[in-house]
Amino acid sequence: MTSRPGERLHAVVTGGAGFVGSHLCTALVAHGYRVTCIDDFCTGSSANVAHLAGRPGFELREADVGEGLDVEGHVDYVFHLASPASPADYLRLPLHTLDAGSLGTRNALELARRDGARFLLTSTSEVYGDPLQHPQPESYWGNVNPVGPRSVYDEAKRFAEALTTAEAGAIGVDTAIVRLFNTYGPRMRSHDGRAVPTFIRQALAGEPLTVTGDGTQTRSLTYVTDTVNGILAMARSDLAGPVNIGNDVEFTMLELAHLIIELTDSPSTVQFVARPTDDPAVRRPDIAMARDKLRWEPTTQAHEGLAATIEWFRVHPEA
Ligand SMILES: NC(=O)c1ccc[n+]([C@@H]2O[C@H](COP(=O)([O-])OP(=O)(O)OC[C@H]3O[C@@H](n4cnc5c(N)ncnc54)[C@H](O)[C@@H]3O)[C@@H](O)[C@H]2O)c1
Repeated sequence: MTSRPGERLHAVVTGGAGFVGSHLCTALVAHGYRVTCIDDFCTGSSANVAHLAGRPGFELREADVGEGLDVEGHVDYVFHLASPASPADYLRLPLHTLDAGSLGTRNALELARRDGARFLLTSTSEVYGDPLQHPQPESYWGNVNPVGPRSVYDEAKRFAEALTTAEAGAIGVDTAIVRLFNTYGPRMRSHDGRAVPTFIRQALAGEPLTVTGDGTQTRSLTYVTDTVNGILAMARSDLAGPVNIGNDVEFTMLELAHLIIELTDSPSTVQFVARPTDDPAVRRPDIAMARDKLRWEPTTQAHEGLAATIEWFRVHPEA
């Protein structure tokens, strides 16, 4: 994990033009890293990192991680985020999602192996499936349907975790796995199908907020700067993980809808619609390990993070 004396540390971020990736690239550039952002723009956009264009050491490259990673110069960190992540995206791109988790992870690990870099995989709470244990500690193995509609994402990430662990053991790659829980914030896409941008778009348009099922299913929501700080804390540690990164404050979807109506001062009402297949009933991380070993915990309150996100969507109605 050492760059040569006098050189900036070099981080490669796959999926760096996506929602979380663009915030990670921004933080790395701010910390003085040279950053190579690799993205095929299947769900991300160069607009997400346009503010970094021209900053010293920042480079954006269009490439599919499933086809290989061609990066010149010594690399100190590989952050592997490339993967469609919202249900709407991975249902539209099922094979691409499986390839990003399998071939893409293999290629990103190979780049880390080449230079003795630290490799970090952003896995997901989806590896717990529809959990039978609540909250979910890292030791829980999950309850995943391998042939259900969400399996292309869940199983790709489970495979990516297995591959990462195998390469650490067999080849000695320095690896880290974080399991991110639902993250929200500026630069999400209003039509990506996730609850926060959907509710904000509907509330700002004065349309009914479409709550699935009876709205009693729960999620925990992490503001994106907290997630990025968790990723960076893990990268700087010597832990292999997996470590949960998320917020342990839990909301029902109905509570979230009402909070967004209140924060947008919207006349919208709530409309109940059918719940998707295999949609988890509960989701809340046990973050004792992150608190204890990384000295990390989320610090952004829901109303603050949601207010900042709402403001961003007001300024970017086209998002
Ligand atoms: N946002 C969340 O709530 C959340 C939760 C858990 C895990 N994660 C993980 O974090 C990562 C980022 O998620 P996000 O929410 O920013 O999603 P996103 O869709 O905004 O970003 C993913 C990025 O990866 C790029 N990409 C996808 N396949 C690629 C490929 N084959 N080659 C190159 N680039 C590719 C996309 O174009 C996009 O820019 C993903 O790995 C996701 O699984 C996110």
